[in-house]
Amino acid sequence: MAHLRWWQRATFYQIYPRSFADGNGDGIGDFVGMLAKLDYLQSLGVDALWLSPHFPSPNADMGYDVSDYTGVAPEYGTLDDFRRFLDGAHARGMRVLLDLVLNHTSEQHPWFVESRSSRDNPKRDWYVWRDPAPDGGPPNNWNSAFGGSAWEFDPPTGQYYYHFFFKQQPDLNWRNPEVKQAMWQAVRFWLDMGVDGFRLDAIGTIFEDPAYPNHTSKLSQIEMLRAWRENRSPEEQQALMAEFMDMFKHQFGRPEVHDLMKELRALLDEYPGDRVLIGEDDDVAYYGNGDDELHLVFNFPLMRTNRLTPAWVRANQAERLSKLPPGAWPCNTLGNHDSTRLWSAFGDGQHDAEIARVNAALLLTLRGTPVLYNGEEIGMTDLLLERFDQLRDNQAINLYHFAVGEGISPDEAMRMAARMTRDRCRTPMQWANAPNAGFSPPGVQTWLPVNPNYAQGVNVADQDGDPNSMLNFYRRLLALRKRTPALMAGDYVPVNEEAQDYLAFLRRDEDSGQICLVVLNMSAQFREARFTLPWPSARCLFSSHGHEGETAHLSALRLAPFEIFIGELTHGRA
Ligand code: NOJ
Ligand code: CA
Repeated sequence: MAHLRWWQRATFYQIYPRSFADGNGDGIGDFVGMLAKLDYLQSLGVDALWLSPHFPSPNADMGYDVSDYTGVAPEYGTLDDFRRFLDGAHARGMRVLLDLVLNHTSEQHPWFVESRSSRDNPKRDWYVWRDPAPDGGPPNNWNSAFGGSAWEFDPPTGQYYYHFFFKQQPDLNWRNPEVKQAMWQAVRFWLDMGVDGFRLDAIGTIFEDPAYPNHTSKLSQIEMLRAWRENRSPEEQQALMAEFMDMFKHQFGRPEVHDLMKELRALLDEYPGDRVLIGEDDDVAYYGNGDDELHLVFNFPLMRTNRLTPAWVRANQAERLSKLPPGAWPCNTLGNHDSTRLWSAFGDGQHDAEIARVNAALLLTLRGTPVLYNGEEIGMTDLLLERFDQLRDNQAINLYHFAVGEGISPDEAMRMAARMTRDRCRTPMQWANAPNAGFSPPGVQTWLPVNPNYAQGVNVADQDGDPNSMLNFYRRLLALRKRTPALMAGDYVPVNEEAQDYLAFLRRDEDSGQICLVVLNMSAQFREARFTLPWPSARCLFSSHGHEGETAHLSALRLAPFEIFIGELTHGRA
């Protein structure tokens, strides 16, 4: 384990600043609040904190539309508040990663304000401007991933600008070296201050095909809309995803991104302390040769299902691990601020609590760096918003208007918006069984509604002292991971691959000689797992059913429904 770098040993924890802790009682999370929760995070046992964007932003995309890359949003505090948070995290042995949005800025960023001011402004070429098509329409038929055309006409100068996301997020022109210089300055600003790295937003879309060819996909907006409306099977979703990717194929995944990532990596490597880059993309190509682009690339395919079955996980691991370049280190996650919460995503409606625990155990025992999303550790669930005025995510607001425009009733449009909006997983962190879940003082209107299930035990204070709570389940697992070399460093070897209901795999650490067996019963049935391994028994290190310390016989391992078993086969060098 000694040879592992800190980010290979670490468990990462994503903080969504707007919803984590409200220090000044205005209904919005902030740095004073986050600072006050560092002891909590330390007690949880996480090692690195990734903050979703904390920069000044008009919040057309909740912070992912940055208007100042070296500032702090006033609602979150000041740069000094940020420094205190950073120092506080470091003092407790936790690292801090920021969210770096390279693809686009806010339309209100001074760079864009200048750029759009005239065709001959020196910053005109910092963004992607094109003349209208001969008929006056957009330069080509490309779509924005968030709906509608990817081109927005700007009357004062008579040209269109390109935006892969919302129209309030114009894409930067990374072919202009000045853009790079300006952004690298911002990167250095934070590295100089001592931040430990970055989660890179939307890297795949940084460059487009310079010929700007039309796409030929037949997928229409209305079909994409229907996909949200009808709860489709994973297979159908995958087929849709493939079509979706085809539609956007000229707009992402260009080879130029790799040169840019190499450059950014070299910049980071100038700094002491092993700073780290995590890429928001599926593509393992962003690992480069394993040591010259990104340190970590999220294994998103793992979470693209509504049921994590043994077969699904095996197939994912087999494919993912075989694709990694030598030396590359996996990175697994089951939730973030863009997706259904772990609890809500993979449950069956009957055993959601048990399934959430099994999936947490999966995330924390697979090979690779796990990334948790705030609130997951207390079993927070999605919140279905009921009223249009509660929506904050423009994706859902746009979808609502589009649906109503297509003749769908406002009630039905609201239900669709509530189901798809990213607001559902962004509600305030539930700290206590108190008004506003203890996030904000009583009577304050929080920026998104608080999930009322804080009153049913889904809150930190109630779970803190309860040895059987979800929170203490996470704490136990995180502590186990930390003291168990095989779970941190070991390889992944699937065993009993024919088993339909349970997932079993070994983690073997060469250095320490330790080998662990992880068995996760992912079904509601009693099962007996029969192993023919060179070891007849295992010492139980972790059990969801109170078997720790017992010796388990591997010729017939009885598993209760959703039982989690982590056992040690060997200990120390042979
Ligand atoms: C990915 C971020 O996670 C998401 O929240 C955002 O809307 C897009 N990138 C655009 O920045
Ligand atoms: Ca606040």
